[in-house]
Amino acid sequence: MSLNVDLLKSTFARAKEENGGLRSLGLRFYERLFEKYPQVKPLFSTPPEEQHKKLMASVGATIASLNEPDKMVPFLQAMGIRHLKYKTESAHYGAVGENLVAVLGEHLSKEGEWTSEMKAAWEEALNAVSEIMIQAAENPESCKENLLKAGYDADGMRKDTEQPWVLSR
Ligand code: HEM
Repeated sequence: MSLNVDLLKSTFARAKEENGGLRSLGLRFYERLFEKYPQVKPLFSTPPEEQHKKLMASVGATIASLNEPDKMVPFLQAMGIRHLKYKTESAHYGAVGENLVAVLGEHLSKEGEWTSEMKAAWEEALNAVSEIMIQAAENPESCKENLLKAGYDADGMRKDTEQPWVLSR
């Protein structure tokens, strides 16, 4: 994976600071997702007011661990396996990725630049993230050993936390 780590980190740092920060980005994510892809709305039972915090924490954890694949890969595999419970299908990942890039673009354009290079960096990163999550969900057995070594249970949960979407440093 050769992602544009510096650009991903700097744009995410801007997203925290600009246009109302991650709260407005996260709430807009679900607003646009449900407008554009109403078919996924019934999968969600947690209200966006709560759910957006988990999504943003998981994106932040991923960005923070881009240079630490030993942490990032099992984190994403575990998340992919947990999504089996939420009835997520592989085909939904394109919608979620498209939506995240679109709302990030809206968000960062309000106070500064959103360039084609930034867009490409996020698209590549989301494709890579989706691939790891989907592969794990399609074949949980193949990553079981990796998960156990990193402190996750085979179902993607952790005994030491009820918030596995937060990555401890
Ligand atoms: C970039 C890919 C994705 C990321 C980073 C992500 C992140 C998260 C996080 C952090 C949670 C909280 C629960 C947990 O961690 O187990 C969650 C829950 C959930 N996600 Fe995702 N997700 C992604 C893709 C998807 C896709 C493609 C769908 C399908 C529409 C989806 C649907 C859901 C649902 C239904 C829940 C449970 C909500 C509830 O509690 O009601 N996610 N996601």
